[in-house]
Amino acid sequence: MTNQFKNRLVENMAVNADNHLEISGLDATELAKNYGTPLYVYDIALVKNKINTFKDAFRSYEKGTQVAYASKAFSSLALYQLLAKEDVSLDVVSGGELHLAIHAGFPSERIHFHGNNKSYQELKEALSYKVGCIVVDNFREIEMINELTEELDTTVDVLIRVTPGIEAHTHEYITTGQEDSKFGFDLASNQVEEAIIRLSDLSRLNTIGLHAHIGSQIFEVTGYEAVIKKLMASSKDWANRFDFDLSVLNVGGGFGIRYTDKDEPRPLKDYANAIMGAVREQAKENDLPLPEIWIEPGRSIVGEAGTSLYSIGTNKTIPSVRKYVTVDGGMADNIRPALYQAEYTGVLANKVEADQSETVSIAGKACESGDMLIWDLSLPETTTGDLLAVFSTGAYGYSMASNYNRLPRPAVVFVENGKDFLAIRRETYADFLRLENSIDNGL
Ligand code: LLP
Repeated sequence: MTNQFKNRLVENMAVNADNHLEISGLDATELAKNYGTPLYVYDIALVKNKINTFKDAFRSYEKGTQVAYASKAFSSLALYQLLAKEDVSLDVVSGGELHLAIHAGFPSERIHFHGNNKSYQELKEALSYKVGCIVVDNFREIEMINELTEELDTTVDVLIRVTPGIEAHTHEYITTGQEDSKFGFDLASNQVEEAIIRLSDLSRLNTIGLHAHIGSQIFEVTGYEAVIKKLMASSKDWANRFDFDLSVLNVGGGFGIRYTDKDEPRPLKDYANAIMGAVREQAKENDLPLPEIWIEPGRSIVGEAGTSLYSIGTNKTIPSVRKYVTVDGGMADNIRPALYQAEYTGVLANKVEADQSETVSIAGKACESGDMLIWDLSLPETTTGDLLAVFSTGAYGYSMASNYNRLPRPAVVFVENGKDFLAIRRETYADFLRLENSIDNGL
């Protein structure tokens, strides 16, 4: 395989003797034939590998650790079942994610319930299922949880979600003093302190520590170190003044992945090592016992494991401007390019190493000019029916998919070392009709 392709492909991928892309030992053209396109393919061997990388890295830590997969990146019944076996925890952010996880048999004591506007009903469900902890986000929520724990005669562990005034982006972090965010209790204006005081009066809510999430697709470790420093120094102060006990420090997710050649993420173990290092240092500095460390990776677990397969349809050349090549999906199954100008790369999965003779732009099929998946991709000359593979689509692709233009959501297939399994079937027109009422029955 030439370097050009090696660089584009993801771990566990290969090109077979027919010049077809292979994902975890399976020919992508066969998958497309068997399941149709657009198709999401998840390499489960890679998902497990990422989980184990985090778990292995944390083994050297003296206290407990939890790797809680952030469901919002991608959730499915089968994924939850698999994660339950892999012995990770789960971050859910809605009654819907919670319901699916419980239905999948995920142990509720390993579920952490997040959200900036949890409803009374959602909180009731979380408490009835006896989730492992609720990450409290605001004062009203504290009141609702207190009321509900009395009604249900139960107790619950809570983490306080802090907006720490540190925001991290791919290559840098900024300290803002006060973070303008809809999430959590603001550190700078003493809201965290106020929450600690209120919670200390409520015997059914057991405050176990703090949570902060500083951003997404982060390549540097400095932002994590800065937030740990800030939260542990504050914890020292609160320990003195309110007997606050930082048993758990959850530093959120956000660990960066490779979408295109422009991205050079660091190995995942580097994040774990930097986080453990900073926590040990700050514990010593502030004379605090070591807390448990929890993290919440989403993208870094499933992002690179996901590949989207599309069939190529029409093309349009505008002389001296560009050539558009259109695929049978687009913004309905992957909104990220349209929403965030996210960049992806890919290959022609049925002719991977053919001469890359053209630079084309990959358009989706939705009725919207903004429905472009990739600008300026080098590909061999394409014809209708060729198969395009777009890499690293596993996070926030399917989970943010819509039925815009009434496009059915794709099927999701899991593959692992030569085996395949249909995890989510393709949506059908019948699925659309299931929700609809005829006007004959009303008005
Ligand atoms: N924990 C909390 C509290 C979060 O808000 C998030 C992501 C995560 C963990 C997981 O972050 P990750 O490891 O996946 O970066 N739709 C956007 C990403 C939104 C992230 C929201 N929060 C995208 O497609 O890039």
